[in-house]
Amino acid sequence: MSKYKSPILFAAVLALSSTSVFASEKNDEAMKKLGTKAGCFTCHAIEPGAAGPNGLKPIGPAWKEIAARYKGDKKAEKVLIAEVMDGTSPYNRHWQDKTSGVAMPPNAVAISQADAKKLVRWILALK
Ligand code: HEC
Repeated sequence: MSKYKSPILFAAVLALSSTSVFASEKNDEAMKKLGTKAGCFTCHAIEPGAAGPNGLKPIGPAWKEIAARYKGDKKAEKVLIAEVMDGTSPYNRHWQDKTSGVAMPPNAVAISQADAKKLVRWILALK
């Protein structure tokens, strides 16, 4: 009996992990669609290193850089959701040396609070 246990367990683990990979890929797609629909990619890239308009720095910070900067910061999710909805202040730039945009405009016209929450959680989880 014990002879059969491990291959069965192995198959079960494999099945579980492949469904979760599939689910996260689907979520990636959904989040990219949401970002596109809300116009986020006019100013942001996901991957760092993209150039901005006319050879300037990118308008907004790359989402993977945002994830790295706020890693382990428990307040980040709430603060960033509010900033996405209400915009940021040009007098308190968080990405001054990295971006050419001076502030993020409010996005509440383009995205719901619930979708902003989903998107910010996804951004913060990027590796
Ligand atoms: C018109 C350009 C523009 C658009 C559109 C835009 N952003 Fe931004 N975003 C910026 C800029 C510029 C900053 C950097 C602000 C700063 O330096 O304080 C920023 C910063 C951010 C940050 C980090 C804020 C911080 O305090 O570190 C997040 C998260 C973010 N944007 C998410 C989004 C999401 C999600 C969308 C779409 C719903 C979006 N942005 C749309 C320009 C934009």
